[in-house]
Amino acid sequence: MSASPLDDKPTASYEADPAEVRRVLLLYSGGLDTSVMLKWIQDSYEAEVVCLTVNLGQPGEDYGAIEEKARRLGALECHVVDARERFATDYVIPAIKANALYGGGYPLFTALGRPLIAQLAVERARETGCDTIAHGCTGKGNDQVRIEATVATLAPELRTIAPVRSWRMGRDEEIAYAREHGIPVKGGTEVTPYSIDDNLWGRSSEGRWIEDLAHAPEDDVFQLVTRPEEAPDEPQTVSVEFERGVPVALDGQRLGPVELLEAAAEVGIHHGVGIVDHVEDRIVGLKVRDIYEAPAAAILLTAHQELEKLVGTIHQNQFKPELDRKWAYLVYAGLWWEPLRTDLDAFIDAANSQVTGTIGLRLYKGGVRVVTRSSPNAVYDSDLASFAESGGLFSQEASPGFIELWSLQSRLAHRIRERPAGED
Ligand code: ARG
Repeated sequence: MSASPLDDKPTASYEADPAEVRRVLLLYSGGLDTSVMLKWIQDSYEAEVVCLTVNLGQPGEDYGAIEEKARRLGALECHVVDARERFATDYVIPAIKANALYGGGYPLFTALGRPLIAQLAVERARETGCDTIAHGCTGKGNDQVRIEATVATLAPELRTIAPVRSWRMGRDEEIAYAREHGIPVKGGTEVTPYSIDDNLWGRSSEGRWIEDLAHAPEDDVFQLVTRPEEAPDEPQTVSVEFERGVPVALDGQRLGPVELLEAAAEVGIHHGVGIVDHVEDRIVGLKVRDIYEAPAAAILLTAHQELEKLVGTIHQNQFKPELDRKWAYLVYAGLWWEPLRTDLDAFIDAANSQVTGTIGLRLYKGGVRVVTRSSPNAVYDSDLASFAESGGLFSQEASPGFIELWSLQSRLAHRIRERPAGED
């Protein structure tokens, strides 16, 4: 541990000068790191601390207990904000429209949550007269980038501190500090717990054996989704209805965004869907493995992508995934406020204007498979596609002419490459 945070010189313009920290808005989860932080900021900076806890639908939280703990540890105020509706509507639904998966497997739940959490921190910091925002992210992760980039963009007058980056305490020292200061330490202290982050859209686990790439997942990591081996022996079909790219009903029942995400998660959890064992390129240069459980995303992204493909032309279907990939990368990389993201949203919304219809999915022991599709906007005509004789718009006699011209350049190039040596 360094003697004092006052020894550390700020590297970036938005970092707090320790001598000027008076009142800190702490993003408080109630866990060990941010509880130790709550005390540590008061002691080291001689500053007041206002706590903010954001509910993004992480299961099993007792917000009353978190608030109580914050007060007991000396918080001046403790605010709990239920941001589930805002998260679902303004973050998760755009991600569904963008079929957002980073690295081919990560549905971005943490990455989507951070800019909202940081924005709420800015709002509360301004309301409560704070000069600094503190968070519990480490110096090795993406989350520090997402939070600090948001604060620096939205509130140039505010400063940030990231105690975990500077206090140089290991877990044992943190536990000792907690004991010394009367901070309750949950559970046993022998085994380091997994590092967990979760919200409405999914859950991630990092650390312990997950860091050993050759180690297959141990059963105890799956605390959200039923392990596929234990999922029901009977498959279940669910239907998802979309209007202009927005999921609006599950199995014919219209639901608001939060309820729909929760209902999709529930059925997915039951059938063990959405497990992703993912090695990922972090924005800070590290390659790290995560175990994800994202049941709602497994269902809704699969359904959305299928419907979008049905209503799009071949050109739209070739092009949009390129923009989707860029969208996911910007969000992953902590650049939610980058104008390119809103530019992309304009295109993505336009493409989604046709994404209306219903997709049926079969869930079975960890698998999600599309089984039915219907849309008033499908660029599909069963008469044309049929193997039966068809006339109308499609003329089979026209095909040879098409093939002749379509293959013209390829045929010419092939002939040139294959000509015998010396014949040019
Ligand atoms: N790898 C994911 C991401 O960068 C999940 C991070 C989860 N965060 C955590 N503190 N455990 O978005």
